[in-house]
Amino acid sequence: MTYTPTYLQARYGAQAAAWPVPHHPVVEHILSHRSVRNFLPDALPPDTVQTLVAAAQSAPSSSNLQTWSVVAVHSQHSRDRLAELAGNQAHIRTAPLILVWLADLSRIARIAQYKDQPADGLPYLDTYLMAVIDAALAAQNAVVAAEALGLGTVYIGALRNQPEAVAQVVGTPAGVFPVFGLVVGHPDPARPAAIKPRPPQASVLHHERYTAPASLTDEIGDYDAQLRDFQASEGLSEIDWSDLVLQRLANADSLKGRHRLVEALQGAGFPLR
Ligand SMILES: Cc1cc2nc3c(=O)[nH]c(=O)nc-3n(C[C@H](O)[C@H](O)[C@H](O)COP(=O)(O)O)c2cc1C
Repeated sequence: MTYTPTYLQARYGAQAAAWPVPHHPVVEHILSHRSVRNFLPDALPPDTVQTLVAAAQSAPSSSNLQTWSVVAVHSQHSRDRLAELAGNQAHIRTAPLILVWLADLSRIARIAQYKDQPADGLPYLDTYLMAVIDAALAAQNAVVAAEALGLGTVYIGALRNQPEAVAQVVGTPAGVFPVFGLVVGHPDPARPAAIKPRPPQASVLHHERYTAPASLTDEIGDYDAQLRDFQASEGLSEIDWSDLVLQRLANADSLKGRHRLVEALQGAGFPLR
């Protein structure tokens, strides 16, 4: 049985009516994702971290190398510091937990030491990329699980604004790099998050071969207008998505410290050959 649920309309606007989705609780669950930035300070149910990490460890892993780790940061002191390092994002202070997801090549480096064998593939860019991909897949599984438990989450890429300072807070050794944080908590029912629209599927979906559109309208349809409507309904200042992305990537300064990433990675023991 297929139907067009309201959350699909929220995601795609009018075009959603053209593609009903199967009525399936897991699909519905994934389609109704929203980042949460307003949390209650209440503690999480016992064993939440174990459940989320079990979900994370159930994700696929490149060659089963398992090149990720996660630090569960509960302490108010450390969360305050991480909030400060991430551009003062208040939700990091309020919610009871931030998971710091790590690209972790140190485990394999240690295994090579224990076994007195080489691991000369570690310093290559692809190995780092595998670790980042592993960390992202693991984290997203944790997001899906957290949302299924009625919790809210928001990723914190801003931890990469000052990665060396973040590494100090979470005590990571060489060969370990913080990829992003994930705030986890009880959503504040008084300030619920809404489903954010996405660009039309034609923006991201190609059949057989990539076709580069020739105009902004071909590129993103009416997504600028849709996102403006969303921002207005959320009481946010309105800006076209196409301007937002250009602002975000206008120059090195607009990367908010992340233009130093290669240097930071090299300092953390990732030569990136
Ligand atoms: C890797 C990554 C890093 C992110 N970093 C931040 C962040 O630092 N602060 C924040 O408020 N949201 C952050 N987000 C959340 C995005 O802004 C959000 O996913 C996007 O606007 C789409 O909204 P939605 O998740 O509600 O659908 C991040 C998302 C991802 C995937």
